[in-house]
Amino acid sequence: MELNRRTVIAGAAAAGMAATTLGGTAHATGGRKPVKTLFGKLADGTKIYSWSLENGGTRLKVLSYGGIVQSLEIPDRRGRYANVSAGFDNIEDYVAKSPYFGALIGRYGNRIGKGKFTLDGKNYQLSVNDGEQSLHGGAKGFDKRVWDIEPFTKGSDVGLYLYYTSVDGEMGYPGTLKTKVTYTLTRHGDWRIDYEATTDKATVVNLTSHVYWNLAGEGSGTIEDHELQIAGSRYTPTDSGLIPTGELAKVAGTPFDFTRAKAIGRDIRTSHPQLVTAKGFDHNWVLDKGITARPEHVATLRDPASGRTLKIATNEPGLQFYSGNFLDGTLTGPSGRTYRQGDALCLETQHFPDSPNKPSFPSTVLRPGQTYRTSTIHTFGC
Ligand code: BGC
Repeated sequence: MELNRRTVIAGAAAAGMAATTLGGTAHATGGRKPVKTLFGKLADGTKIYSWSLENGGTRLKVLSYGGIVQSLEIPDRRGRYANVSAGFDNIEDYVAKSPYFGALIGRYGNRIGKGKFTLDGKNYQLSVNDGEQSLHGGAKGFDKRVWDIEPFTKGSDVGLYLYYTSVDGEMGYPGTLKTKVTYTLTRHGDWRIDYEATTDKATVVNLTSHVYWNLAGEGSGTIEDHELQIAGSRYTPTDSGLIPTGELAKVAGTPFDFTRAKAIGRDIRTSHPQLVTAKGFDHNWVLDKGITARPEHVATLRDPASGRTLKIATNEPGLQFYSGNFLDGTLTGPSGRTYRQGDALCLETQHFPDSPNKPSFPSTVLRPGQTYRTSTIHTFGC
């Protein structure tokens, strides 16, 4: 294990202390050195910083709260920039009412049924925060923690190391989990995420990122015209609590078939029982490539009007496509416009939801001595 940053600022980060890091020193042959500014303060006075990065035509702003991508700007085919990720322009809204806008998700992306699981004969009860289920790590997941951030420039890459230590028993999870997430902007403007974690007791872990994309620009209306392709010929249908039934159902002949690019709005109003239950798409696709040693292409999103495209590559076996079903017009973004249902969408690379209770799904167990490692690459084009 080589997590580092004095191996994840052990107690301090675990206690939620905002460790502040001043500047990076390296000079870029490629992008500019990340710049840190004060974004706001938590109620207890903790300062939250915004880190700005730019490389290869992509501009990224990341908060020390939740590792949140507060803004991600890319050009359209005429070179006009837009922020393509939904969010807020102030810390208070992130704390009070964010539906995980742009955040790092841990310890477990998506749901664990009734927040219960058994590991090595021991029963665990997690924090339950979504009806009967535990969603995205429980009531105070990684999205609501203060991360310790260290900037870097490496050759033509620029980026941030984000560190958080989750103490044994936090949100009901066993083991102290030391987490390091690396956000890299490459000289081609790709945004790469590398997740690493170690534990001192057997546990389960499934980290992801919860950016809400709208390639036409946040606040510009529906994503139903976006075209999506997902390299998955099966998906995991859910029960009424959005917990997978365990079946790996074929997408062929159903609204869930995105094996060839199609407009998201094309079948979203089909009265397929799975779409009715979830109020749209909110499902895990079983990626045909399976778990791979290196990130491989799994999805392409395209906004035909602006020409902006997003390609996702991962080594993970699953992808949650969530079509922003629960956005209801009550949240206002940085553009001053509200987010209504389907105004942004998430593509979360992951292991399957509820894997700790589904022995047939790829395992999410992490044991002492092992290092959890997954990577996702976002490539932008126009
Ligand atoms: C889940 C949705 C949930 C949303 C929270 C998504 O990852 O799949 O069911 O409502 O996160 O904003």
